[in-house]
Amino acid sequence: MSERFSVLYSAEQIAARVRELGSHITRDYKDERLVLVCVLKGSFVFTADLARAIDAHLRVEFLGVQSYGEGTESSGLVQITQDLTKSIEDEHVLLVEDIVDTGLTIAHLLDLFRTRKPASIKVCALLHKPARTRIAVPIDYLGFTIEDKFVVGYGLDHAQRYRNLPFIGVVEHA
Ligand code: IMP
Ligand code: MG
Repeated sequence: MSERFSVLYSAEQIAARVRELGSHITRDYKDERLVLVCVLKGSFVFTADLARAIDAHLRVEFLGVQSYGEGTESSGLVQITQDLTKSIEDEHVLLVEDIVDTGLTIAHLLDLFRTRKPASIKVCALLHKPARTRIAVPIDYLGFTIEDKFVVGYGLDHAQRYRNLPFIGVVEHA
């Protein structure tokens, strides 16, 4: 690879923060049954680690989501490419997102999921870029707040690349 990366969060820093998020979620849901909804594709790495950091009764569901349009701008039009396999009615749902950028994706998913009558719905995001907010959405559990830079790694991609990097960083083209 000719790319260099400036590392924002190392694998160790991410792991430490995920453990903290997991213990907060464990505390809040210890008497409940939880449905973790992994918002694909970007959240697959985060969800795998987060699920193992939560000591509660839970099941995992996967939601395939695609923003229309190419490049690094969210269009705000969210297409569901793969839906949940079971009803979430009367269940406690936690949406797991890699990053909240404009907020349009999560806002859309919250609207959609509320029509399905869950007992509760909350959001866990690894990253948040407040400088780009277009719709303010509640983030109940947040890993890190970042500057307005396009980041990759730990599940996050640029044109489908770099999801496998163990750290979160910014691409610096050589
Ligand atoms: P939003 O709808 O603008 O909040 O965008 C959410 C989605 O855009 C995320 O789930 C990511 O898939 C993608 N995204 C936003 N910012 C970044 C970034 O810095 N790196 C990689 N993907 C991003
Ligand atoms: Mg995503």
